[in-house]
Amino acid sequence: MNVPVIAIDGPSASGKGTVAERVATRLGFHFLDSGALYRLTALAAMKHGVALDDEAGVAQLAAALPATFRDGAVWLAEEDVTDAIRAEAVGEGASKVAALPAVRAALLDRQRAYRQLPGLVADGRDMGTVVFTDAVAKVFLTASAEARAERRYKQLIEKGNSANLPALVADMQARDARDTARAVAPLKPAADALLLDTTHMDIESAVQAVLTHYALCKARSKQGN
Ligand code: DC
Repeated sequence: MNVPVIAIDGPSASGKGTVAERVATRLGFHFLDSGALYRLTALAAMKHGVALDDEAGVAQLAAALPATFRDGAVWLAEEDVTDAIRAEAVGEGASKVAALPAVRAALLDRQRAYRQLPGLVADGRDMGTVVFTDAVAKVFLTASAEARAERRYKQLIEKGNSANLPALVADMQARDARDTARAVAPLKPAADALLLDTTHMDIESAVQAVLTHYALCKARSKQGN
């Protein structure tokens, strides 16, 4: 298919969501937040009383997920769940259901359906390694666990929540370990991905780095054709 994809993968709170969304806006491309699909699946399971380790049950929900993304809001059937899917418990649940092979398989076609002209920026953990292996540009965005915990801490405080920095660092490390160690689609850079460490980089510099990388990859792929 001749629709360009930019795959942006990396650990949680690395800033990849914000970077991916801004890159998509600059290029006028579609945007896929694949983590939201895992979060929606976990939320749907919780609402329907399906256990998060019931692989067949959760996969069935994932395959028929009544999810829509409209004007920055996320809907599950008739309910606006934009804030609900960001809750810590739902993130935990998402990490659990994401480790189930049948759930990942059930979400594959849905993710690939976002590939539409003029192009797609896809953000997740396995965009470059599994879902869009032929992406024209792949980026693996990281930052140290401490830097990511600090960003999450600031977000929580800004929203008026309480937060504990050492606990956030520990959470970040535990989630990384789970996402990296799982048997299916573990979190790892694609062999052909650009590694972008944003520990000492602001969002706008990261956006520019991705745009430059994409321009370079596009030029290279034109030469190859
Ligand atoms: O990016 P996020 O925090 O919204 O992702 C939520 C969970 O979903 C996280 O534990 C990793 C998982 N995930 C995944 O396994 N594969 C993806 N492509 C995206 C997210």
